[in-house]
Amino acid sequence: MPTPATPPLLRLTDIRRRFHLGETVVDALNGVSLDIQAGEFLAVWGPSGSGKSTLMNMLGLIDQPTSGSVQFDGADVGALTDDALTDFRGRRIGFVFQSFNLVPVLSALENVALPLQIQGVDKADALDRARAGLEEVGLAEFTATRPDKLSGGQRQRVAIARALATRPGMVIADEPTANLDSENSRMVVDLMRQMNQAHGVTFVFTTHDPRLLEHVDRKVLLRDGRIERDEVAQ
Ligand SMILES: Nc1ncnc2c1ncn2[C@@H]1O[C@H](COP(=O)(O)OP(=O)(O)OP(=O)(O)O)[C@@H](O)[C@H]1O
Ligand SMILES: [Mg+2]
Repeated sequence: MPTPATPPLLRLTDIRRRFHLGETVVDALNGVSLDIQAGEFLAVWGPSGSGKSTLMNMLGLIDQPTSGSVQFDGADVGALTDDALTDFRGRRIGFVFQSFNLVPVLSALENVALPLQIQGVDKADALDRARAGLEEVGLAEFTATRPDKLSGGQRQRVAIARALATRPGMVIADEPTANLDSENSRMVVDLMRQMNQAHGVTFVFTTHDPRLLEHVDRKVLLRDGRIERDEVAQ
């Protein structure tokens, strides 16, 4: 008997997302179908307004489509209650943002420990795990430092450690390098790549910068809310 193929980690089928802005209707996604396998390292690129962030919000289970279906690990996300969805997202998905979104009054270590504490891990254990995470992203010396004393590149490394703290299967990063210079942008993409390879975590990130697409396994080009190209590196 043939063994069934492993279901994708995420399957988007004919996703449409319509926004209403007063009288205006904006179709941000116009029939996007996309399978993402566990362990992929994938970039979504395309011009401003092409629907990248809208797509990332679908992949991160933050937003629901106007029509079409989203399946995560074979489960239909549309059928989950809000509580189940929040719980699912908290356990399975990590997020990295353009503007870092670190808590300014907390140290780097406390920022990384926070998602663990929210999940009920006791403080000492959470701090130990956070310390290991900061070491892994090369910031062992900065545990006590607050975000405003770190460079943009360092802040984003803290944010990556925080996204990985709960050991999610997938990290969603919307324009993680938009506020960084080219050297730090390269460093952040390399770090995500290392984490992808070391832990098998699926990474999906968006970018405007074609130079950052050189080392991804797969690049999906969006235009006008549609996938124009889906290229897999040889
Ligand atoms: N909450 C919203 N309400 C109304 N329109 C929205 C909303 N979010 C996105 N849009 C519209 O949907 C389209 C796609 O937006 P989106 O933010 O996904 O593009 P993007 O590719 O991420 O752009 P950028 O590169 O500038 O970040 C745009 O026309 C945008 O104005
Ligand atoms: Mg965007």
